[in-house]
Amino acid sequence: MLIRILGAAAGGGFPQWNCNGRNSAAVRAGKPGFRARTQCSLALSANGSDWVLLNASPDLRQQINETPALGARADGPLRNSPIKAVVVTGADVDFIAGLLNLRELQPFSIYGSSRVLETLAANSIFNVLDASVVARRTLAFGTPTPIEGAGRDTGIVVEAFPVPGKIALYLESGASNDNYGSREGDAIGLKVTEAATGKHFFFVPGCAVVDDELAQRLKGAPLVFFDGTLYTDDEMIRQGLMQKTGQRMGHISISGPQGSIAAFEPLNVARKVYVHINNSNPVLDDNSPERRAAEAAGWEVGTDGMEIHL
Ligand code: MLT
Ligand code: MN
Repeated sequence: MLIRILGAAAGGGFPQWNCNGRNSAAVRAGKPGFRARTQCSLALSANGSDWVLLNASPDLRQQINETPALGARADGPLRNSPIKAVVVTGADVDFIAGLLNLRELQPFSIYGSSRVLETLAANSIFNVLDASVVARRTLAFGTPTPIEGAGRDTGIVVEAFPVPGKIALYLESGASNDNYGSREGDAIGLKVTEAATGKHFFFVPGCAVVDDELAQRLKGAPLVFFDGTLYTDDEMIRQGLMQKTGQRMGHISISGPQGSIAAFEPLNVARKVYVHINNSNPVLDDNSPERRAAEAAGWEVGTDGMEIHL
């Protein structure tokens, strides 16, 4: 299975359009050690010709144009696409807005939890993906689901599982004691398996805490792409960017006793890659002490275009 990171940044991307924080300013100025990143999405293929996207970010059009394998094939019919399915892990803007780039009556399938599919159904702009052309399929938790689209079996099987997290920002209701109206299935992780070989990896781009259940699931995994939104819970407040902590947004931090470095320490995961990295995160600076600390703990910091053959 070939896995390609289309985008490794969190919502807003890197640089973020309206941000003059130290990282965004540095990457905009071309400072050494800083690389731009688009919003978080992965592309995978088991057979080299049919592709499955994990999340459809607002940057999808750019990502497709920068990835020749995802463009229309020169030897195909007048309208064609190798993208056969999109699996979404939540209803956040950075996970679903890119679906709108996939209009033009091209058959493919959208897979998501019933909570996320309800959100697509409730927002009529997504009807631009005509249901008679673009199938919407529910991912039932704990059920390995063969991913198919446009009449093709992609050879990829996905199992979805709920993870601790939060409802999309624009759907928040109520108060903190109800986690702003969040319910099971608002944040999910994916176990992605190549049917022919059984090789697999995990994709968890949004997660508030590594609880026992998630730790058991990830134990000994060959490869995990994981929520790298923030390095420190209050970094956006300290940098003067925004008055929210990571926990308020449903995101674990990299550092600290409850952070992902500590949580993964006993899990013996062979390869660990941070994705969904916020523009405030100091690991985006190749030369920062925080970057060195993450790498010393065995983590890689995802970059756009990074490919992994599993
Ligand atoms: C998140 O990851 O918490 C969301 O993408 C935030 C947002 O919608 O701006
Ligand atoms: Mn996000």
